Amino acid sequence: KRIVVLISGNGSNLQTLLDQSAAGQLGGEVVAVVSNKAEAYGLERARIAGTTTAVLSNKDYGDRDSFDAALMQLIDSHEPDLVVLAGFMRILTPGFVRHYQGRMLNIHPSLLPRYQGLHTHQRAIEAGDTEHGCSVHFVTEELDGGPVVLQARVPIFAGDDEATVAGRVQVQEHAIYPLVVRWFCEGRLTMQQEQAWLDGVPL
Ligand code: GRF
Repeated sequence: KRIVVLISGNGSNLQTLLDQSAAGQLGGEVVAVVSNKAEAYGLERARIAGTTTAVLSNKDYGDRDSFDAALMQLIDSHEPDLVVLAGFMRILTPGFVRHYQGRMLNIHPSLLPRYQGLHTHQRAIEAGDTEHGCSVHFVTEELDGGPVVLQARVPIFAGDDEATVAGRVQVQEHAIYPLVVRWFCEGRLTMQQEQAWLDGVPL
C-alpha cells in the first residue's frame, strides 16, 4: 500500500511511520511526505529516510479552495491508498475531505470527543482531569469529529505541566498510529457510513 504523510512541524509521528515502513512492519510504504511549512523538521526526517518530499506553502495561494485543489493534485500524483495527517495544522475544505473519504487518518492529542481543537493538554490540566490521551480517527468534514479507531489513555498527576503531559501522550501516539496504519494497509480497517470497522465489526 502507498502512503502519503502530511505534516507541518516536528514529525515525530512521521518518524515512527518511516521507521516501521523501512522495517517492513507497516504493511505499506511511505512514498511521499508533504509539508505546508518549508522549515518543518519532519522534512529533514523524510530526507534522511530517503523519502520523497514536497512543500506546498499555503501562503502562495489566495484562498483555501485553491490551496486544497493544488494539495489534492500533489497528493494524487503519488497515487496513495492512504493519506496520513501527522501534525498537519491546516483545516481542510469539505471537497478535499470528501475526496479522501475512508482513506484519510488523523491523530488528535485528546480522548475524543473531548477537547477537539487546539491546546488540548492545557485544557485537560485546567479542567482537573486525571485521565487524558490521544485518538486516531478517520477524517470527515467535522473537524476532529470523524469516527475514532483507537485511543490510548495516560494519567495526569498533580503538578504535571503541559510539557510533561504532552510528552506522555506522544509516547502513546507513537505506539497507536503505526498500529492503525498497519490495520488499514492490511485491509482490516474501513470506514462505512461514517463508522469505523475493524475485521468486519463496527468499532
Ligand atoms: C501531535 O501531538 C498530534 O497529536 C497532533 O500534532 C502533533 C504532531 O506531533 N495532531 P509530531 O509533529 O508528530 O511530533
